[in-house]
Amino acid sequence: MKSRIVVSRELTPAVMSRITREFDAELPPPEVMSPNAIMEALYATGAMGLVFDGRTRFDAAFVQALPPTLKVAATFSVGVDHVDLAAVRAKGLVLTNTPAVPDASVADFAFLLMLAAARRLAEYDATVRSGQWRRIFAHAECLGSDLAGKTLGILGMGRIGQALAHRARAFGMEVAYHNRTRLAPVDEQGAIYCRFLDELLPIAQVLSLHAPLTSQTAKLLNARTIGRLPDGAIVVNTARGGLIDDEALIAALRSGKLRAAGLDVFEGEPHLDPRYVTLPNVTLAPHMASATEETRTAMGMLCLDNIAAVAAGRPALTEVRMTSIPQPPLSTPSRR
Ligand code: DGY
Repeated sequence: MKSRIVVSRELTPAVMSRITREFDAELPPPEVMSPNAIMEALYATGAMGLVFDGRTRFDAAFVQALPPTLKVAATFSVGVDHVDLAAVRAKGLVLTNTPAVPDASVADFAFLLMLAAARRLAEYDATVRSGQWRRIFAHAECLGSDLAGKTLGILGMGRIGQALAHRARAFGMEVAYHNRTRLAPVDEQGAIYCRFLDELLPIAQVLSLHAPLTSQTAKLLNARTIGRLPDGAIVVNTARGGLIDDEALIAALRSGKLRAAGLDVFEGEPHLDPRYVTLPNVTLAPHMASATEETRTAMGMLCLDNIAAVAAGRPALTEVRMTSIPQPPLSTPSRR
């Protein structure tokens, strides 16, 4: 008998066709189902599995109200900041995520944003599209900045951070990182380890964020920490918008303290601080770092593998356990 599941949102065609073949599920709408609709579908179908994503807040009240028939909730994401983990544990629900699958896509995208920010791609693109390219640029006009020879500071050296470091080395960058625990030399590959965030900031000519959003990392990049970056630094964020204090970042981008930024994630997305769209030195993307056909299909397949494992009485492949949540970075002993 096919296991009954609810899928909160349409996934890639390959994943949808596996759902149709192997599971008993109603086809989801292209837009994400509301929490109420998800709850109703779970009660109406008695589903044992749910595929959902970061658009559905699994807060304590929502988790407590879930029907007892639900055994496994598979989030189509690496991040679990939308889930109240303590409530999930108290409920006895298996929660799974999609670690490792999007590493290469997200690292590619972080590098893409770094290059775009350093080389002013958004400005050039806008110039051509708007018909403003009416004369040849002077040799000293509208110049970008090379990445080769610069130091990339990586905040959070997990799998994505390490994949980004690999790409940066190929472009001739030095790599420094801050992580709560130091990597083994074989993984570090010559990167400079900074035990404290305040050691990393002054040397990070480009800073890329790869930390989870927790109560300790919220607004980690703020007026004080931005002030510690070298003048003219570039900031890239493909992790979570909540890591950044928008007011401080916008002020630094306006004043020239920061040269540029590449942002894929925003606090309150899909709404973002409207001032970002007025800044020429910001490259913007709508949370698409993992958005390749291959990666999105692999993420969906992993969600289904996890549900199938639980349905067969086996352990899930990638269960989120309290201890498997990445630790937040260390700031200096007293301040952030
Ligand atoms: C993730 O995997 O956490 C991405 O940010 C998509 O939500």
